[in-house]
Amino acid sequence: MKPFLRPLLLLLPLVLAASARAAVDTSCLAPGADCTLREIATAAGVRIGAAVNPTWLAGEPAYAEAIAAEMNSLTAENVMKWPAIQPGEETWNFGPADAVVDFARAHGQRVRGHTLLWANPIRIPDWVNAAPDAETLEDWLDDHITTQVTRYADDVDQWDVVNEPLDNFGLTLYDNVFTQRIGPEYIARAFHLERAADPDAELFLNEVLVADPTTPRFDAFYDLVTDLLDQGVPIDGIGFQGHFIAGILQPTPEQFEAAIRAFTDLGLKVEITELDIVMPNQSPDRLEVQGRVYEALVGACLRVIGCDGVTTWGITDAHTWIDGTFGPGYVPLLLDEDYGRKPAYYGVRDALLERLALVPEPGAGWLLAAAALALRGAGRAARTGRRCP
Ligand code: G3I
Repeated sequence: MKPFLRPLLLLLPLVLAASARAAVDTSCLAPGADCTLREIATAAGVRIGAAVNPTWLAGEPAYAEAIAAEMNSLTAENVMKWPAIQPGEETWNFGPADAVVDFARAHGQRVRGHTLLWANPIRIPDWVNAAPDAETLEDWLDDHITTQVTRYADDVDQWDVVNEPLDNFGLTLYDNVFTQRIGPEYIARAFHLERAADPDAELFLNEVLVADPTTPRFDAFYDLVTDLLDQGVPIDGIGFQGHFIAGILQPTPEQFEAAIRAFTDLGLKVEITELDIVMPNQSPDRLEVQGRVYEALVGACLRVIGCDGVTTWGITDAHTWIDGTFGPGYVPLLLDEDYGRKPAYYGVRDALLERLALVPEPGAGWLLAAAALALRGAGRAARTGRRCP
C-alpha cells in the first residue's frame, strides 16, 4: 500500500465512528479532536471519578474546570465522613457535602457517597466511640445512616456503606466500638439501614490492600464478603481502594484482574474507588513508568465487564493526601501541579479506550470499536514519539 494511504486508512474508522453512535456524543473521536476521560468513559458506559474537596471546587477555577471536564462522577474526599458531617449527636454539618452534590448536579455528574461508617476507631467520632451501651449505639447508627442517606437520596447513586472493615494490614475485623458493643453484625445492620433509607442506591463494601488474591488478607476479605452474602446482606459491590506504591506495594495486573473477577464471579459489581500511585524514586522516566502502571491496573479492571468504574483519589498532584502523609514529591495523580496531563492521564485514557472497544453498541458498534483502538494506538505513538505499528 502507498505509504501516504496508511494514515488515511487509520483515520477512516474514526470519521465513521464519530457519526455512528446516536446515544452518546463521540465526535471527540474524530481526527484532530481530543476526547477527555469523561467523554470516553461516558461513551463506554463506565464511571470515571475523582475525590474532591469543596474548598478547591469553589476557590480554584483550574481545579473546578478539570473536575468538570474530566470526570463523570465525584466522591467527597472527606466531607461526608461521620466526624465531618455529624460532629455531635445533635450537630450536623451538611454545608460542605451539599457543595459537592451541588457541583455534581450543576455539571451532570454522579456522586459516590463516602462513607457512612469507616471502621477504623480513629475515624469514628469521639462521641460515638464513647457510646455507653449497644442500644444507644444502634440508635446513633440508625440515625446517622438514615439521616445522611435520605438527604442525598436524589444525588448519591452509590454508597461506601462500610469502609475498611478489616484491621489495617490485618486479617480480622477492626476492634472498635461497634464490634465491642454490637458485634460483627454491625456491618449487616449498616447495609440494611442504608437499603431501607434509599432502595435505589448501590451499596459497596470498600477495602484497602486486598488487590492481590494470593494473600491471606484477600482470603479474609473474600470470606467476609461471602459470609455477608450468605446472610442475605444487601451488598451490591466491592470497592478496591487502590493507594498503590509503584513496584513496591501494587499487584501485578494479572493478580488485580483475578482479585476483581473473584467478586464479579459472585455477581457483585466492582469498582476502583480510591486510586493513586505513589512514585517512590526520582528516576528520570518515573512519570512514564507511572503511566504504564496506571494503564495496566485500570485496564485490569476495565477489561472485566462488571468492573465498571474508576475513581482517582484527587486529580492533581497539587492536592493529594499523599503530601500530608508521606511528604511532597510523590506525584501520585493524573495531572501535574499546573494541571498539565501526565503520562498517568494518558494511561487511564488508553485503558478507557480499550474498554470502549470491548463493549461496542449493537449496530454500528464495530466502527466505534475500531475508532477507539486506532485512537489508542495513535495516542501512544504521539507520546512515545514512535509510530503506530
Ligand atoms: O480540615 C482540617 C483543617 O481545618 C485542619 O487545620 C487540619 C489540621 O490537621 O486538618 C484538616 O483536616 C484534615 C483533612 O484530611 C482535610 O485535609 C485531617 O486532619 C486529615 O486527617 C484528613 O485526612 C484525610 C484522611 O482520609 C482521614 O479522613 C485525607 O484527606 C483523605 O484523603 C483520606 O482518605 C482516605 C479514605 O477516606 C479511605 N481510604 C484511605 C484514604 C487515604 O487515607
